[in-house]
Amino acid sequence: MYKIPTFHTGFPPMSTGNGSGMRPREHWASRIGFIFAAAGSAVGLGNVWRFPYVVGENGGGVFLIVYLAIVFTLGISIMIAELVIGRAAQRNPVGACRALGGAPWAGLGYLGLVSAFVILSFYCVVAGWTLNYAWTLATRGFASDPAQAFEAFVASPSQTIPVAGVFMALTVAVVLGGVKGGIERANLFLMPLLFAILVALAVRAVTLPGASAGLAFYLAPDFSTFGIGTLTEALGQAFFSLSIGLGAMMTYGSYLDRGQNIPRAAGWVVGLDTLAAIFAGFAILPAVFAAGLSPETGPGLAFVVLPTVFATMPFGALFGTLFFVLLSIAALTSSISLLEPLVAYFIDEHRLRRGGVTVAIGFAAFLLSIPSALSLGPWANYTVFGKGVLDLLDALTAGIMLPAGGLLIALFVGWVLGPRAIMEFDESSERSRFAWIWLWILRIPAPIAIAWILIRWAMQ
Ligand code: PHE
Repeated sequence: MYKIPTFHTGFPPMSTGNGSGMRPREHWASRIGFIFAAAGSAVGLGNVWRFPYVVGENGGGVFLIVYLAIVFTLGISIMIAELVIGRAAQRNPVGACRALGGAPWAGLGYLGLVSAFVILSFYCVVAGWTLNYAWTLATRGFASDPAQAFEAFVASPSQTIPVAGVFMALTVAVVLGGVKGGIERANLFLMPLLFAILVALAVRAVTLPGASAGLAFYLAPDFSTFGIGTLTEALGQAFFSLSIGLGAMMTYGSYLDRGQNIPRAAGWVVGLDTLAAIFAGFAILPAVFAAGLSPETGPGLAFVVLPTVFATMPFGALFGTLFFVLLSIAALTSSISLLEPLVAYFIDEHRLRRGGVTVAIGFAAFLLSIPSALSLGPWANYTVFGKGVLDLLDALTAGIMLPAGGLLIALFVGWVLGPRAIMEFDESSERSRFAWIWLWILRIPAPIAIAWILIRWAMQ
Protein backbone atom coordinates (compact mmCIF):
# COMPACT_ATOMS: atom_id res chain seq x y z
CA MET A 1 0.00 0.00 0.00
CA TYR A 2 2.61 2.44 1.05
CA LYS A 3 4.40 4.03 -1.84
CA ILE A 4 7.71 5.71 -1.50
CA PRO A 5 7.27 9.19 -2.87
CA THR A 6 9.45 9.70 -5.91
CA PHE A 7 9.46 13.23 -4.72
CA HIS A 8 12.50 12.54 -2.61
CA THR A 9 15.04 12.12 -5.29
CA GLY A 10 13.65 15.26 -6.76
CA PHE A 11 12.44 14.07 -10.08
CA PRO A 12 10.90 11.24 -12.01
CA PRO A 13 13.06 8.72 -13.80
CA MET A 14 14.55 10.98 -16.38
CA SER A 15 17.10 12.41 -14.02
CA THR A 16 19.32 9.42 -14.59
CA GLY A 17 21.53 11.35 -16.90
CA ASN A 18 19.95 9.97 -20.01
CA GLY A 19 17.67 12.59 -21.47
CA SER A 20 16.74 10.87 -24.69
CA GLY A 21 16.22 7.51 -23.10
CA MET A 22 18.67 6.17 -25.66
CA ARG A 23 22.10 7.67 -25.72
CA PRO A 24 23.83 8.46 -22.44
CA ARG A 25 24.04 12.21 -22.09
CA GLU A 26 27.50 13.67 -22.10
CA HIS A 27 28.52 15.77 -19.13
CA TRP A 28 31.06 18.45 -18.41
CA ALA A 29 34.50 17.07 -17.81
CA SER A 30 34.98 18.89 -14.53
CA ARG A 31 33.41 21.25 -12.06
CA ILE A 32 35.62 24.11 -13.09
CA GLY A 33 34.96 23.23 -16.73
CA PHE A 34 31.29 23.90 -16.24
CA ILE A 35 31.89 27.20 -14.49
CA PHE A 36 34.16 28.34 -17.29
CA ALA A 37 31.68 27.27 -19.94
CA ALA A 38 28.84 29.11 -18.23
CA ALA A 39 31.02 32.15 -17.56
CA GLY A 40 32.14 31.93 -21.19
CA SER A 41 28.50 32.15 -22.19
CA ALA A 42 27.87 35.15 -19.97
CA VAL A 43 31.03 37.14 -20.66
CA GLY A 44 31.01 38.43 -24.21
CA LEU A 45 29.90 41.35 -26.31
CA GLY A 46 27.20 42.05 -23.75
CA ASN A 47 29.90 43.22 -21.36
CA VAL A 48 32.28 45.09 -23.61
CA TRP A 49 30.09 46.28 -26.48
CA ARG A 50 26.59 46.55 -25.02
CA PHE A 51 27.05 47.48 -21.36
CA PRO A 52 29.12 50.67 -21.83
CA TYR A 53 26.88 52.17 -24.49
CA VAL A 54 23.70 51.33 -22.60
CA VAL A 55 25.19 52.94 -19.48
CA GLY A 56 26.07 55.93 -21.66
CA GLU A 57 22.57 56.26 -23.02
CA ASN A 58 20.87 55.86 -19.65
CA GLY A 59 22.45 58.41 -17.41
CA GLY A 60 25.61 56.66 -16.16
CA GLY A 61 25.79 56.10 -12.40
CA VAL A 62 22.05 55.70 -11.81
CA PHE A 63 21.94 52.97 -14.38
CA LEU A 64 24.91 51.23 -12.78
CA ILE A 65 23.17 51.09 -9.39
CA VAL A 66 19.89 49.81 -10.83
CA TYR A 67 21.76 47.29 -12.95
CA LEU A 68 23.73 45.88 -10.02
CA ALA A 69 20.59 45.67 -7.90
CA ILE A 70 18.80 43.69 -10.61
CA VAL A 71 21.74 41.37 -11.28
CA PHE A 72 22.16 40.37 -7.66
CA THR A 73 18.48 39.80 -6.95
CA LEU A 74 16.54 38.76 -10.04
CA GLY A 75 19.55 37.83 -12.17
CA ILE A 76 21.19 35.34 -9.88
CA SER A 77 17.85 33.82 -8.83
CA ILE A 78 16.80 33.18 -12.39
CA MET A 79 20.18 31.82 -13.37
CA ILE A 80 19.95 29.28 -10.53
CA ALA A 81 16.39 28.47 -11.62
CA GLU A 82 17.51 27.72 -15.17
CA LEU A 83 20.40 25.53 -14.05
CA VAL A 84 18.03 23.66 -11.74
CA ILE A 85 15.56 23.00 -14.58
CA GLY A 86 18.33 21.85 -16.90
CA ARG A 87 20.02 19.53 -14.47
CA ALA A 88 16.78 18.06 -13.23
CA ALA A 89 15.47 17.27 -16.69
CA GLN A 90 18.76 16.49 -18.45
CA ARG A 91 17.50 17.78 -21.74
CA ASN A 92 16.98 20.78 -24.03
CA PRO A 93 14.75 23.71 -22.96
CA VAL A 94 11.61 22.51 -24.74
CA GLY A 95 11.94 18.92 -23.58
CA ALA A 96 12.91 20.02 -20.08
CA CYS A 97 9.93 22.30 -19.54
CA ARG A 98 7.57 19.73 -21.00
CA ALA A 99 9.00 16.86 -18.96
CA LEU A 100 8.89 18.75 -15.69
CA GLY A 101 5.74 20.81 -16.13
CA GLY A 102 3.56 19.19 -18.77
CA ALA A 103 2.87 19.99 -22.40
CA PRO A 104 1.83 23.66 -22.14
CA TRP A 105 5.15 24.54 -20.56
CA ALA A 106 6.94 23.48 -23.72
CA GLY A 107 5.91 26.95 -24.91
CA LEU A 108 8.41 28.45 -22.50
CA GLY A 109 11.11 26.36 -24.15
CA TYR A 110 10.03 27.46 -27.62
CA LEU A 111 10.03 31.11 -26.62
CA GLY A 112 13.62 30.64 -25.51
CA LEU A 113 14.66 28.95 -28.73
CA VAL A 114 13.22 31.78 -30.83
CA SER A 115 15.05 34.33 -28.66
CA ALA A 116 18.29 32.39 -29.03
CA PHE A 117 17.94 32.24 -32.79
CA VAL A 118 17.22 35.96 -33.15
CA ILE A 119 20.04 36.98 -30.80
CA LEU A 120 22.45 34.67 -32.60
CA SER A 121 21.63 36.43 -35.86
CA PHE A 122 22.61 39.92 -34.77
CA TYR A 123 25.27 38.77 -32.32
CA CYS A 124 27.38 37.44 -35.16
CA VAL A 125 27.19 40.82 -36.90
CA VAL A 126 28.76 42.63 -33.95
CA ALA A 127 31.20 39.76 -33.42
CA GLY A 128 32.14 40.23 -37.07
CA TRP A 129 33.01 43.85 -36.31
CA THR A 130 35.33 42.56 -33.59
CA LEU A 131 37.06 40.17 -35.98
CA ASN A 132 37.45 42.96 -38.49
CA TYR A 133 38.97 45.25 -35.86
CA ALA A 134 41.50 42.62 -34.83
CA TRP A 135 42.52 42.19 -38.45
CA THR A 136 42.64 45.88 -39.37
CA LEU A 137 44.62 46.84 -36.28
CA ALA A 138 47.13 44.11 -36.97
CA THR A 139 47.57 44.92 -40.62
CA ARG A 140 46.94 48.65 -40.90
CA GLY A 141 47.29 50.07 -37.41
CA PHE A 142 45.16 52.93 -36.12
CA ALA A 143 42.84 55.00 -38.27
CA SER A 144 43.38 58.74 -37.99
CA ASP A 145 39.71 59.31 -37.21
CA PRO A 146 38.24 56.28 -35.39
CA ALA A 147 34.65 57.56 -35.46
CA GLN A 148 34.74 58.09 -39.16
CA ALA A 149 36.53 54.75 -39.69
CA PHE A 150 33.73 52.95 -37.84
CA GLU A 151 31.05 54.72 -39.86
CA ALA A 152 32.76 53.83 -43.11
CA PHE A 153 33.22 50.21 -42.07
CA VAL A 154 29.63 49.53 -41.00
CA ALA A 155 28.37 51.27 -44.13
CA SER A 156 30.12 48.68 -46.25
CA PRO A 157 28.18 45.41 -46.54
CA SER A 158 30.95 43.83 -48.60
CA GLN A 159 32.98 43.94 -45.38
CA THR A 160 30.40 43.42 -42.65
CA ILE A 161 28.53 40.48 -44.18
CA PRO A 162 31.55 38.26 -44.86
CA VAL A 163 32.99 38.78 -41.36
CA ALA A 164 29.62 37.91 -39.84
CA GLY A 165 29.70 34.77 -41.99
CA VAL A 166 33.19 33.89 -40.80
CA PHE A 167 32.13 34.28 -37.21
CA MET A 168 29.04 32.13 -37.74
CA ALA A 169 31.20 29.47 -39.38
CA LEU A 170 33.48 29.46 -36.32
CA THR A 171 30.45 29.08 -34.06
CA VAL A 172 29.18 26.18 -36.13
CA ALA A 173 32.61 24.55 -36.10
CA VAL A 174 32.80 24.59 -32.31
CA VAL A 175 29.23 23.37 -31.81
CA LEU A 176 29.87 20.56 -34.31
CA GLY A 177 32.58 19.27 -32.01
CA GLY A 178 30.23 19.52 -29.03
CA VAL A 179 30.49 22.36 -26.54
CA LYS A 180 31.86 20.07 -23.91
CA GLY A 181 35.14 19.47 -25.70
CA GLY A 182 38.15 21.70 -26.02
CA ILE A 183 36.34 24.96 -25.55
CA GLU A 184 35.96 24.26 -21.84
CA ARG A 185 39.68 24.04 -21.47
CA ALA A 186 40.58 26.91 -23.79
CA ASN A 187 38.49 29.24 -21.63
CA LEU A 188 40.63 28.37 -18.69
CA PHE A 189 43.46 30.61 -19.81
CA LEU A 190 41.77 32.87 -22.36
CA MET A 191 39.35 34.43 -19.91
CA PRO A 192 42.01 35.48 -17.40
CA LEU A 193 43.97 37.01 -20.27
CA LEU A 194 40.96 39.01 -21.41
CA PHE A 195 40.44 40.23 -17.86
CA ALA A 196 44.10 41.25 -17.62
CA ILE A 197 43.87 43.41 -20.74
CA LEU A 198 40.58 44.91 -19.60
CA VAL A 199 42.18 45.93 -16.33
CA ALA A 200 45.19 47.44 -18.12
CA LEU A 201 42.83 49.33 -20.42
CA ALA A 202 40.80 50.58 -17.48
CA VAL A 203 43.94 51.84 -15.75
CA ARG A 204 45.03 53.63 -18.91
CA ALA A 205 41.59 55.11 -19.53
CA VAL A 206 41.08 56.53 -16.05
CA THR A 207 44.49 58.22 -16.14
CA LEU A 208 43.86 59.98 -19.45
CA PRO A 209 43.68 63.78 -19.20
CA GLY A 210 40.03 64.74 -18.97
CA ALA A 211 38.94 61.33 -17.74
CA SER A 212 37.52 62.57 -14.45
CA ALA A 213 34.30 63.83 -16.03
CA GLY A 214 33.75 60.31 -17.33
CA LEU A 215 34.47 58.79 -13.94
CA ALA A 216 31.95 61.11 -12.37
CA PHE A 217 29.40 60.22 -15.01
CA TYR A 218 29.94 56.51 -14.35
CA LEU A 219 30.17 56.53 -10.58
CA ALA A 220 28.28 59.56 -9.28
CA PRO A 221 24.59 58.89 -9.83
CA ASP A 222 22.49 61.78 -11.07
CA PHE A 223 19.04 60.72 -9.92
CA SER A 224 17.29 63.28 -12.06
CA THR A 225 17.93 61.01 -15.06
CA PHE A 226 16.10 58.08 -13.46
CA GLY A 227 12.94 56.89 -15.18
CA ILE A 228 11.07 53.79 -16.23
CA GLY A 229 13.49 53.56 -19.17
CA THR A 230 16.36 53.08 -16.72
CA LEU A 231 14.59 50.04 -15.26
CA THR A 232 13.69 48.49 -18.61
CA GLU A 233 17.15 48.95 -20.03
CA ALA A 234 18.85 47.64 -16.90
CA LEU A 235 16.57 44.62 -16.83
CA GLY A 236 17.24 43.85 -20.49
CA GLN A 237 20.98 44.35 -20.10
CA ALA A 238 21.06 42.07 -17.06
CA PHE A 239 19.26 39.25 -18.87
CA PHE A 240 21.33 39.65 -22.00
CA SER A 241 24.63 39.82 -20.17
CA LEU A 242 23.91 36.89 -17.86
CA SER A 243 22.63 34.77 -20.77
CA ILE A 244 19.35 34.13 -18.99
CA GLY A 245 15.70 34.02 -20.00
CA LEU A 246 16.15 31.85 -23.09
CA GLY A 247 17.31 28.45 -21.94
CA ALA A 248 21.04 28.76 -22.64
CA MET A 249 21.76 28.12 -18.97
CA MET A 250 19.12 25.37 -18.93
CA THR A 251 20.99 23.63 -21.71
CA TYR A 252 24.34 24.01 -19.99
CA GLY A 253 22.72 22.84 -16.76
CA SER A 254 21.53 19.73 -18.54
CA TYR A 255 25.15 18.66 -19.02
CA LEU A 256 25.72 19.07 -15.31
CA ASP A 257 26.28 16.19 -12.93
CA ARG A 258 24.52 15.79 -9.66
CA GLY A 259 26.66 16.73 -6.74
CA GLN A 260 27.63 20.08 -8.17
CA ASN A 261 26.70 23.02 -6.07
CA ILE A 262 24.48 25.07 -8.37
CA PRO A 263 24.17 28.25 -6.30
CA ARG A 264 27.89 28.45 -5.85
CA ALA A 265 28.51 27.98 -9.57
CA ALA A 266 25.91 30.63 -10.37
CA GLY A 267 27.58 32.97 -7.88
CA TRP A 268 30.87 32.62 -9.72
CA VAL A 269 29.33 33.18 -13.11
CA VAL A 270 27.35 36.24 -12.03
CA GLY A 271 30.40 37.64 -10.22
CA LEU A 272 32.75 37.22 -13.17
CA ASP A 273 30.24 38.63 -15.63
CA THR A 274 29.60 41.67 -13.47
CA LEU A 275 33.30 42.30 -12.94
CA ALA A 276 33.91 42.16 -16.68
CA ALA A 277 31.13 44.67 -17.32
CA ILE A 278 32.37 47.05 -14.62
CA PHE A 279 35.92 46.95 -15.98
CA ALA A 280 34.66 47.53 -19.50
CA GLY A 281 32.82 50.58 -18.16
CA PHE A 282 36.06 51.87 -16.66
CA ALA A 283 37.93 51.18 -19.88
CA ILE A 284 35.44 53.03 -22.05
CA LEU A 285 33.44 55.74 -20.27
CA PRO A 286 36.32 57.88 -18.93
CA ALA A 287 37.93 57.69 -22.35
CA VAL A 288 34.72 58.88 -23.99
CA PHE A 289 34.92 62.12 -22.07
CA ALA A 290 38.71 62.39 -22.47
CA ALA A 291 38.25 62.17 -26.23
CA GLY A 292 35.47 64.76 -26.17
CA LEU A 293 32.86 62.31 -27.45
CA SER A 294 29.28 61.90 -26.28
CA PRO A 295 28.35 58.94 -24.06
CA GLU A 296 25.20 58.67 -26.14
CA THR A 297 27.06 57.55 -29.22
CA GLY A 298 25.15 54.27 -29.35
CA PRO A 299 26.22 50.81 -30.54
CA GLY A 300 29.47 52.02 -32.08
CA LEU A 301 30.79 53.38 -28.78
CA ALA A 302 33.32 50.66 -27.90
CA PHE A 303 34.55 50.44 -31.47
CA VAL A 304 35.17 54.17 -31.64
CA VAL A 305 36.59 54.69 -28.18
CA LEU A 306 38.80 51.66 -27.55
CA PRO A 307 41.12 52.35 -30.49
CA THR A 308 41.67 55.86 -29.16
CA VAL A 309 42.73 54.42 -25.80
CA PHE A 310 45.01 51.83 -27.34
CA ALA A 311 46.58 54.52 -29.49
CA THR A 312 47.87 56.24 -26.35
CA MET A 313 49.48 53.08 -24.98
CA PRO A 314 52.95 51.70 -25.68
CA PHE A 315 52.61 48.83 -28.17
CA GLY A 316 49.02 49.98 -28.59
CA ALA A 317 48.42 48.30 -31.93
CA LEU A 318 49.73 45.03 -30.56
CA PHE A 319 47.61 45.16 -27.41
CA GLY A 320 44.66 46.35 -29.43
CA THR A 321 44.92 43.40 -31.78
CA LEU A 322 45.28 40.97 -28.92
CA PHE A 323 42.29 42.54 -27.20
CA PHE A 324 40.00 42.26 -30.21
CA VAL A 325 41.14 38.67 -30.77
CA LEU A 326 40.31 37.82 -27.16
CA LEU A 327 37.00 39.64 -27.42
CA SER A 328 36.18 37.63 -30.53
CA ILE A 329 36.88 34.47 -28.59
CA ALA A 330 34.74 35.68 -25.69
CA ALA A 331 32.00 36.33 -28.23
CA LEU A 332 32.49 32.84 -29.61
CA THR A 333 32.04 31.20 -26.22
CA SER A 334 28.78 33.16 -25.98
CA SER A 335 27.50 32.46 -29.47
CA ILE A 336 28.01 28.72 -29.05
CA SER A 337 25.69 28.88 -26.05
CA LEU A 338 23.07 30.49 -28.30
CA LEU A 339 23.37 27.82 -30.96
CA GLU A 340 23.68 24.81 -28.63
CA PRO A 341 20.12 24.98 -27.18
CA LEU A 342 18.68 24.90 -30.70
CA VAL A 343 20.90 22.01 -31.70
CA ALA A 344 20.15 20.12 -28.47
CA TYR A 345 16.44 20.57 -29.16
CA PHE A 346 16.63 18.94 -32.59
CA ILE A 347 18.89 16.16 -31.32
CA ASP A 348 16.77 15.33 -28.25
CA GLU A 349 13.29 15.87 -29.63
CA HIS A 350 13.61 15.00 -33.29
CA ARG A 351 16.45 12.53 -33.15
CA LEU A 352 18.43 14.43 -35.76
CA ARG A 353 22.16 14.31 -36.12
CA ARG A 354 24.31 17.02 -34.65
CA GLY A 355 26.16 17.65 -37.90
CA GLY A 356 23.30 18.50 -40.25
CA VAL A 357 21.29 20.39 -37.67
CA THR A 358 24.19 22.57 -36.61
CA VAL A 359 25.07 23.57 -40.15
CA ALA A 360 21.45 24.20 -41.12
CA ILE A 361 20.66 26.41 -38.12
CA GLY A 362 23.94 28.27 -38.45
CA PHE A 363 23.20 28.99 -42.08
CA ALA A 364 19.64 30.14 -41.37
CA ALA A 365 20.86 32.45 -38.61
CA PHE A 366 23.48 33.82 -40.96
CA LEU A 367 20.79 34.65 -43.52
CA LEU A 368 18.82 36.47 -40.85
CA SER A 369 21.97 38.35 -39.87
CA ILE A 370 22.19 40.06 -43.26
CA PRO A 371 19.42 42.61 -42.62
CA SER A 372 21.10 43.48 -39.31
CA ALA A 373 24.44 43.91 -41.03
CA LEU A 374 22.82 46.18 -43.63
CA SER A 375 20.93 48.19 -41.04
CA LEU A 376 23.88 50.39 -40.14
CA GLY A 377 24.75 51.01 -43.75
CA PRO A 378 22.55 50.93 -46.85
CA TRP A 379 19.41 50.19 -44.84
CA ALA A 380 20.02 52.91 -42.28
CA ASN A 381 16.85 54.68 -43.37
CA TYR A 382 14.55 51.72 -42.81
CA THR A 383 13.49 52.19 -39.23
CA VAL A 384 10.63 51.20 -36.97
CA PHE A 385 10.17 53.34 -33.85
CA GLY A 386 13.35 55.07 -34.93
CA LYS A 387 15.35 51.85 -34.78
CA GLY A 388 17.13 49.99 -37.55
CA VAL A 389 16.91 46.19 -37.83
CA LEU A 390 19.82 45.40 -35.53
CA ASP A 391 18.63 47.80 -32.84
CA LEU A 392 15.09 46.60 -33.19
CA LEU A 393 15.93 42.89 -32.85
CA ASP A 394 18.17 43.72 -29.92
CA ALA A 395 15.43 45.71 -28.18
CA LEU A 396 12.83 43.06 -28.90
CA THR A 397 14.91 40.21 -27.47
CA ALA A 398 16.77 41.82 -24.59
CA GLY A 399 13.99 44.22 -23.68
CA ILE A 400 10.94 41.98 -24.00
CA MET A 401 11.53 38.34 -24.87
CA LEU A 402 14.26 37.56 -22.34
CA PRO A 403 12.45 39.26 -19.43
CA ALA A 404 9.22 37.49 -20.45
CA GLY A 405 11.13 34.20 -20.51
CA GLY A 406 12.60 35.03 -17.11
CA LEU A 407 9.17 35.77 -15.70
CA LEU A 408 7.86 32.41 -16.85
CA ILE A 409 10.96 30.61 -15.57
CA ALA A 410 10.43 32.19 -12.15
CA LEU A 411 6.77 31.15 -12.06
CA PHE A 412 7.64 27.69 -13.34
CA VAL A 413 10.30 26.94 -10.77
CA GLY A 414 8.52 28.80 -7.98
CA TRP A 415 5.06 27.31 -8.35
CA VAL A 416 5.23 24.26 -10.61
CA LEU A 417 8.41 22.67 -9.29
CA GLY A 418 8.15 24.29 -5.89
CA PRO A 419 9.71 22.22 -3.11
CA ARG A 420 11.11 19.76 -5.64
CA ALA A 421 13.36 22.56 -6.84
CA ILE A 422 14.72 22.99 -3.31
CA MET A 423 16.33 19.57 -3.39
CA GLU A 424 17.88 20.29 -6.73
CA PHE A 425 19.06 23.68 -5.52
CA ASP A 426 21.29 22.35 -2.86
CA GLU A 427 21.45 18.64 -2.36
CA SER A 428 23.50 18.87 0.77
CA SER A 429 20.97 20.72 2.89
CA GLU A 430 17.38 20.22 1.91
CA ARG A 431 16.11 22.65 4.43
CA SER A 432 18.63 25.39 3.95
CA ARG A 433 17.08 28.74 4.60
CA PHE A 434 18.83 30.21 1.61
CA ALA A 435 17.04 27.80 -0.72
CA TRP A 436 13.65 28.83 0.62
CA ILE A 437 14.46 32.50 0.27
CA TRP A 438 15.42 31.81 -3.32
CA LEU A 439 12.18 29.94 -3.97
CA TRP A 440 10.08 32.72 -2.49
CA ILE A 441 11.90 35.34 -4.56
CA LEU A 442 10.94 33.34 -7.63
CA ARG A 443 7.37 32.93 -6.47
CA ILE A 444 6.35 36.50 -5.80
CA PRO A 445 8.77 39.42 -6.04
CA ALA A 446 10.53 38.31 -9.23
CA PRO A 447 7.44 37.84 -11.41
CA ILE A 448 5.81 40.98 -10.03
CA ALA A 449 8.90 43.11 -10.58
CA ILE A 450 9.40 41.89 -14.14
CA ALA A 451 5.72 42.16 -15.03
CA TRP A 452 5.53 45.63 -13.54
CA ILE A 453 8.55 46.84 -15.52
CA LEU A 454 7.25 45.31 -18.76
CA ILE A 455 3.75 46.73 -18.33
CA ARG A 456 4.89 50.20 -17.30
CA TRP A 457 7.21 50.24 -20.28
CA ALA A 458 4.47 49.08 -22.67
CA MET A 459 2.17 51.84 -21.43
CA GLN A 460 4.71 54.48 -22.32
N1 PHE B 1 25.68 36.91 -22.42
C1 PHE B 1 26.25 37.02 -23.72
C2 PHE B 1 27.09 38.29 -23.75
O1 PHE B 1 27.10 39.02 -22.82
C3 PHE B 1 25.22 37.00 -24.81
C4 PHE B 1 24.24 35.89 -24.66
C5 PHE B 1 22.92 36.17 -24.40
C6 PHE B 1 24.66 34.57 -24.75
C7 PHE B 1 22.01 35.15 -24.20
C8 PHE B 1 23.75 33.54 -24.55
C9 PHE B 1 22.43 33.83 -24.28
O2 PHE B 1 27.73 38.56 -24.72
